[in-house]
Amino acid sequence: MRKKMVAGNWKMHGNLSENEQLLTAIIPALNELRNSLLAVCVPFPYLSSVQHLLHNTNLGLGAQNVSQFEKGAYTGEVSVSMLSDFGCKYVIVGHSERRMLYSESSSVVADKYIAAQRGNLIPLLCVGETLEQREAGITQQVIQEQMKAVIDKAGVDSLGKAIIAYEPVWAIGTGKTASPQQAQDVHAFIRQGVSLQNSNVANDLTILYGGSVKASNASELFAMPDIDGGLIGGASLIADDFIAISRALNN
Ligand code: 13P
Repeated sequence: MRKKMVAGNWKMHGNLSENEQLLTAIIPALNELRNSLLAVCVPFPYLSSVQHLLHNTNLGLGAQNVSQFEKGAYTGEVSVSMLSDFGCKYVIVGHSERRMLYSESSSVVADKYIAAQRGNLIPLLCVGETLEQREAGITQQVIQEQMKAVIDKAGVDSLGKAIIAYEPVWAIGTGKTASPQQAQDVHAFIRQGVSLQNSNVANDLTILYGGSVKASNASELFAMPDIDGGLIGGASLIADDFIAISRALNN
């Protein structure tokens, strides 16, 4: 069965005391949401402290990036097994900020996705077009290429153990949310593309929307048939907002 999910992507925000304050407010409020997946993806240095705070709660722990390599001389990198050591269940791969600011190609993203799954982490695979690409009318082409890069290397069945996040770059951190219909159209396109290769995997695939999701627009986005929740940036740092967005999953 398809699962709904809300995941926070804290990006490079927070500190020990802010994190504790945020999670102490969120955890009890979300305790009743037992049918959905909930997670926070935190900066590497805070994995250990957040792991302890999340112990015995229904909030899963995730990281925001991972090396495609198992181990070795890769200064500054963090491996899948290191993330597992700290109780991570999820890892974001292919976030547009990494694709654009750190030149991560779709091929590297696919390698990270494969590495994550090999180590039993669930990759949250991000795809999305820039404003320029949308205006040029090539949104579907861009999404298809990003999906294909992963499917070609990892196989379509691998999506049975992954989560997709559609994050239009023009909606990230801009306050400009995609309309529910705009998002729905791309989500449906992603699901149909997967369905051509494996309809069961497509039906069960959780596809999140990310990009300026707020407490005020979460319900209408999550009400769309192919939108299974959200990957939340800015609003995941504000306890009341993250709680309201999670509750908008409506379980
Ligand atoms: P915002 O919610 O801040 O727009 O960020 C979205 C995002 O990039 C989540 O990964």
